[in-house]
Amino acid sequence: MKGPTAVRFPSLALLTLTLAAPLAQATPAEYGEAMFRLATERGCLACHALEAGPRRSDGLPPIAPAWVEIAKRYRDDPAASERLTRTVMGGSNAAARHWAGKVGEANMPPNASVVSEREARALVNWILVLVP
Ligand code: HEC
Repeated sequence: MKGPTAVRFPSLALLTLTLAAPLAQATPAEYGEAMFRLATERGCLACHALEAGPRRSDGLPPIAPAWVEIAKRYRDDPAASERLTRTVMGGSNAAARHWAGKVGEANMPPNASVVSEREARALVNWILVLVP
């Protein structure tokens, strides 16, 4: 019989393998590569870019803020990591858009079905130190 532990164990083990173990001894380049891969696999890069690029060929603003811009905006905000982790999990607040006027009008949908909270926190902490 499969109890909750039996079900949860493989994903925990996988997380430890994919996040904690390699990253504990990772060089900055390896860390960056691992996080970029995770962001790609979780679909973040369908909307976000690492750096602000030229305007899209259709002339519309970008779908989502570039992560370097996010890092610049929250660089001096010690509460950003916790708050942005919740935003990534639950999606952006349609009534209080933080990037209104700078990006398109669609909200960030909740990502909780594709990232664990631990992955979301790891991604946010990586994004927040992307300031050049
Ligand atoms: C469907 C498009 C889409 C996807 C997929 C998406 N985002 Fe977003 N994201 C947005 C938009 C749009 C905003 C701007 C929200 C706003 O104006 O408040 C945003 C904002 C953010 C912010 C800044 C929030 C703030 O309050 O300033 C972070 C951090 C972020 N996204 C991280 C992620 C991560 C990590 C993933 C992948 C797990 C992800 N996003 C996936 C569209 C997306």
